Amino acid sequence: MTNVMKTQVGIIGAGPAGLLLAHLLQISGIDSIVIDGKTREDIEGVVKAGIIENPAVEVLVESGVTTPEQLAGVRHDGVEFHFDGHTHRFDFKSLINRSVWLYPQHETLIDLIAARVRAGSEPLFEHLAEDILDADTDHPRIVGKTVSGEPFEIQAQMVVGADGSGSIARKAVNGSQFAGFFREYPFAWYGILCEAPPSSEELIYSRAEEGFVLISTRTDKIQRMYFQCDPELDASTVSDAEIWEKLQRGVTGTTLKQGPIFRKDVLRFRSFVAEHLNKGNVFLCGDAAHTVPPTGAKGMNLAFSDVLWLNEALREFFTTGSRALIEKYEENALNRIWKAEHFSYWMTSMLHVAPDATEFDKHRQLGELYMLTESEYGNKLIAEGYTGWAYGASWK
Ligand code: DHB
Repeated sequence: MTNVMKTQVGIIGAGPAGLLLAHLLQISGIDSIVIDGKTREDIEGVVKAGIIENPAVEVLVESGVTTPEQLAGVRHDGVEFHFDGHTHRFDFKSLINRSVWLYPQHETLIDLIAARVRAGSEPLFEHLAEDILDADTDHPRIVGKTVSGEPFEIQAQMVVGADGSGSIARKAVNGSQFAGFFREYPFAWYGILCEAPPSSEELIYSRAEEGFVLISTRTDKIQRMYFQCDPELDASTVSDAEIWEKLQRGVTGTTLKQGPIFRKDVLRFRSFVAEHLNKGNVFLCGDAAHTVPPTGAKGMNLAFSDVLWLNEALREFFTTGSRALIEKYEENALNRIWKAEHFSYWMTSMLHVAPDATEFDKHRQLGELYMLTESEYGNKLIAEGYTGWAYGASWK
């Protein structure tokens, strides 16, 4: 027996995009069902990076997801770039009076799920979407199975694929999972988590001789650091001593505080924008619609931009019947998507050394870093992109 459910908006994926959309829709009195194949514990328990941009913090706080108290003490008013033996601080606060907050993504997910529970609309976990049927009609359906094998169907007026980079919803919109625009990179990140106090008050992004190094943090006791590596590298083959040498060589004037390394992984990445973001009443948002390389931590912040546009379009549809903003969703969302695609690509290409880089390429790259850091306008450009461009749509 198939369990049939009905709702106005069926949302695949209880990640930041799907959960924020459900939250904002509910503020406008629009009913939704969020499903996800994972358990709540899996979603809340996997420690993830999180730099929340200024506009995203405003949405999370003002719409009642995260309290200002939770964000107290994690505001960062700048980042450092290290290159060619130099250190440079981008002082966001004095440049453009903006900041970012280092609040891990799983904490945002915990807050967003708590908001769904408070609204009496807990996501359906362990519900795996398999397909979207009748995608071309005004009554699309999500079909799938629970992890214990029971079939379910969600009958909706609108279906949203917020189901991440492995999205099954892309097929309904673009005919295939891969239709879109890609860029691959010839390097990956070797990431560690270690038990140590922070080595630096602010994040350090370094373009070292051997490539990129990033010194980040999770808590007072847990640190996250990365160095550029071959995408084919087996993480287990690198010794702790080699890791610390690589990381230490990457930074200038900072002695890293070492401690036991308890996780090592190789993170591969790419840039991708799906060919189309919606078809009829089926929509893509967040990583289902686009992915960016991690440099600059744009992923979740960009997902929220899509969500605000989509929320506005669905709100207009359900309150007035007009499809005007639905028809504009793709065009509206793509403006910020391509800016963030560029910014993430730019940060990546500026700070990594490609395996086939020539001496010309390396000198040119340093020229770019000097040009940018010595210019007031360059500093402001980085500050503006890093702390996040204002969202075009409002949830209020
Ligand atoms: C982290 C990840 C990023 O991509 C970034 O730009 C900054 C920090 C992190 O894992 O902490």
